[in-house]
Amino acid sequence: MDEYYNGKISLVTGANSGIGYAVAEELLKRGSVVYLAGRNPEKIARAAAQLSTYGDRVHTLVMDVTEQEQVQQGIEKTAAEAGRLDFLFNNAGVGGTIPFEQASLEDWKTIIDTNIWSVIYGVHFAMPIMLGQGSGHIVNTSSIAGIIPPPFQALYSLTKYGVTGMTECLKYEFAEKGIHFSTICPANIATAIFNKSIDGKAHGDLRIPDDAYPVEKAAALILDRVAEQRGIIVVPEDPNTDAWRGYVLGDQEVEAQLYQMARERREAFEKGGTYF
Ligand SMILES: NC(=O)c1ccc[n+]([C@@H]2O[C@H](COP(=O)([O-])OP(=O)(O)OC[C@H]3O[C@@H](n4cnc5c(N)ncnc54)[C@H](OP(=O)(O)O)[C@@H]3O)[C@@H](O)[C@H]2O)c1
Repeated sequence: MDEYYNGKISLVTGANSGIGYAVAEELLKRGSVVYLAGRNPEKIARAAAQLSTYGDRVHTLVMDVTEQEQVQQGIEKTAAEAGRLDFLFNNAGVGGTIPFEQASLEDWKTIIDTNIWSVIYGVHFAMPIMLGQGSGHIVNTSSIAGIIPPPFQALYSLTKYGVTGMTECLKYEFAEKGIHFSTICPANIATAIFNKSIDGKAHGDLRIPDDAYPVEKAAALILDRVAEQRGIIVVPEDPNTDAWRGYVLGDQEVEAQLYQMARERREAFEKGGTYF
């Protein structure tokens, strides 16, 4: 597995925290040169400092993924400096669990810019480099909400279904050109995403769930499956996350669970309490 990453050049967006940071660290453990990208210069410098044991294989980029020019510059700088770009992890993203009635149009724009345009920019500017090399692997982070629709996550699911669809299409389109595509679909990984909300207001329980999967284990599983050149990669791999297969096939039990989840969330929301 490590051979897949050893000596390769990787760029990870949203690398200052959560899954992005853990994937960056795991890539370093597996011998990759890693460009950690983040929008906040202090946060990304702090993340790089925490990884200083990996020496000159650690690099930083200041990149707000909603800004086309910053994404272009970051990707092109990496390839120019390192001589190539083997892996692009389009990981940066924001959550969006919010009742539809409370979502402003500004919220829809923010989430589309952050979760969809970031991926379009990344793929758009990495592809000419990878096609020129005749190799590369683009790993886009979707969500379990990008293959099954959790109620009260319409904003988020819109963006993540978009990421899944785009990435899967490209996987087939470029298979014979030596460019690989994977879609990461995390579910309940213990990161700060649970402590944040799209508009800064608490719409529910902003705590990391007790049963959330450890982020380091998630990162190791992600890299194992990416090295196998899998398309859709659900993390963690367990019977709960497998429910998406039943949903796609119209399984009535899964449908009933989603209606039940909607009722519980709606009820809690109308009582003014937390709903997830
Ligand atoms: N944790 C889960 O259970 C879960 C489930 C499904 C999908 N995901 C997906 O996994 C990815 C990583 O999330 P996470 O769980 O690791 O949460 P996280 O710790 O909040 O990480 C999100 C990262 O994205 C960055 N980011 C947000 N907007 C950005 C922007 N405009 N430009 C550059 N960076 C930006 C954040 O930077 P700042 O620190 O500057 O905000 C942060 O580093 C996201 O795409 C998320 O949707 C996570």
